[in-house]
Amino acid sequence: MKILVTGGSGLIGSAIVRRLLDLEHEVSVFDIKKSKYQDCNFFEGNITDSERIKDVVRDHEIVIHLAATLGVINTETNPVKTLDTNMGGTRNVLEACKIHGVKKIIFSSSSEVYGEPTKIPINELDKPIPITTYGIAKFAAEEYIKAYSRNFNLDYTIFRLFNVYGDEQAVDWVLPEFVNKAIQNQDIIIHGDGSQTRCFCHVSDVANAFTLALEKAEGEIINVGNNSEPISIKDLALKIIKLTNSKSELKFQSFEESKRNRNEIMKRMPDIKKAQMKLDYKPTISLEDGIMKVVNKINST
Ligand SMILES: NC(=O)c1ccc[n+]([C@@H]2O[C@H](COP(=O)([O-])OP(=O)(O)OC[C@H]3O[C@@H](n4cnc5c(N)ncnc54)[C@H](O)[C@@H]3O)[C@@H](O)[C@H]2O)c1
Repeated sequence: MKILVTGGSGLIGSAIVRRLLDLEHEVSVFDIKKSKYQDCNFFEGNITDSERIKDVVRDHEIVIHLAATLGVINTETNPVKTLDTNMGGTRNVLEACKIHGVKKIIFSSSSEVYGEPTKIPINELDKPIPITTYGIAKFAAEEYIKAYSRNFNLDYTIFRLFNVYGDEQAVDWVLPEFVNKAIQNQDIIIHGDGSQTRCFCHVSDVANAFTLALEKAEGEIINVGNNSEPISIKDLALKIIKLTNSKSELKFQSFEESKRNRNEIMKRMPDIKKAQMKLDYKPTISLEDGIMKVVNKINST
């Protein structure tokens, strides 16, 4: 198939593109940043540029739409840019899909659409109550996709992703940041008391879900994550210290002192039964193995 991946140069995009190329699809990347692969077509551009994206989408059967403004500090300090890129950009991508008769869009939404969950694990039927600009923009993008699908014969699968990490992730994301500090025996800063709980999912498992959705799960919203090892942020830091034989110490910083002066979501854990049922999706990388991949990558650079 001819598949276009917006945001295909990023963490999740690169993993998906590699997987698609290995499956012998013809893959194009649309991104503001160059792709690291030589064996895909690369189109430089911004999804806020409606004419450019219209040109590039032509001739593709499937669009995997990942390009977005993300990161807690980045999105909260740039709310207008977040809305422009994540809502406006998605609308541009959809308009291009409509004009060129794209068969299907597969979209990376986020667990942030749920806001602070009222129960754990979070199920797709739970009411989305996003509380951040990023979460609101992702939820609006989902609604745009559903509206285009209803009106213009475009299939979709929307994935709500839960805390993805990987060896290529920038070290300002929590898991690689802790690994980076631990390797250098530096203090690890914990925001709040560290009791906030997350389920971390390795990027290769996420890439697998996207490839499984090429021909399945039409018109579905599906949680994707790894719920087998929920862990508090404090315990994550302690686990990383142990795995790296580090002398790092934990330092606690209030949310007010940190730049993350917003309501931290305290518990996040996906119910992934729907992904298992519709896609036969099963996360395979344990947290320990995933952490060691990040350790090895940081050690080798
Ligand atoms: N990483 C996570 O934990 C997580 C969780 C939930 C949802 N998501 C979503 O998954 C997608 C991919 O995330 P990621 O972790 O790979 O992030 P990433 O930052 O590594 O990748 C995003 C890519 O999009 C590109 N991009 C950004 N703005 C663009 C624009 N305006 N036009 C064109 N390209 C642009 C960037 O250059 C980058 O290559 C995003 O939509 C994100 O919101 C990620």
